[in-house]
Amino acid sequence: MSARAQPAIVIMPDPTGLAHEGAQRFVDAAVSAVGEGRPFRVALSGGSTPKALFETLAHEPYRSQIDWTQVEVFFSDERFVPADSPDSNYGMARAALLKHVPISELLVHAIPTVNLTPYEAASLYASTIRRAFQAADSVLPSFDLIMLGLGPDGHTASLFPGSEALNIQDQIVAANYVAKLDSWRITFTYPLLNAARCVTFLVQGAEKAEKVQQVLRGDSNLPAAGVHPTAGEPVWLLEQAAAGPEASDMVRKGT
Ligand code: 6PG
Repeated sequence: MSARAQPAIVIMPDPTGLAHEGAQRFVDAAVSAVGEGRPFRVALSGGSTPKALFETLAHEPYRSQIDWTQVEVFFSDERFVPADSPDSNYGMARAALLKHVPISELLVHAIPTVNLTPYEAASLYASTIRRAFQAADSVLPSFDLIMLGLGPDGHTASLFPGSEALNIQDQIVAANYVAKLDSWRITFTYPLLNAARCVTFLVQGAEKAEKVQQVLRGDSNLPAAGVHPTAGEPVWLLEQAAAGPEASDMVRKGT
């Protein structure tokens, strides 16, 4: 079995540099996909970290580098709350990015979270993804880019330690009850994450540094350590504070 390639690690000095690096890579991935004759299908991450990236992307010089008519947006996970909830990942992305760019609402696929059960939501979203990719059930849709964050417990998307969705191999989207939060989440599963052309982790904050190192060392107790796209190892975009003191042997940029 061939040794797994090393992930690309890019360290930026501060959250602003991280946002600009992430925005530029988003642009590059979009231009690449469209240049290869397909729409750019991207799954946005949730939480608070990507907000600055989204806001940066909604402004020049990045905004006009993208043909937004060729962009189709999905979400790698969602809290099971209404879109107008302050906890909604869709709501945050809409306020920070989507309402500021000329993207058709028909090409923005929020995860449904009202008037249905979490299981119905997961099933419906999986169908939405398959329809967009025109992918049969036997085929894993391959996103051009999936953005992910890293939680303080090593979770990513809504794959939390000890949660049932970690074990799902026959679905691309799962309903996942997170006991410690006493709440439901809808999340991409490992099969879908690992079918992506590119997965990028965006991490900031010194409180994440230890988990970043544990994940990069392959600590299988941490859900983020299970993300290994067949197409290539994830790209880690790290703020210096999240890279920790061991970052000296990492690829540095902008520092
Ligand atoms: C979510 C996310 C989750 C997030 C991490 C990091 O819905 O919360 O998808 O995986 O990326 O928890 O969150 P912060 O960026 O807020 O630290």
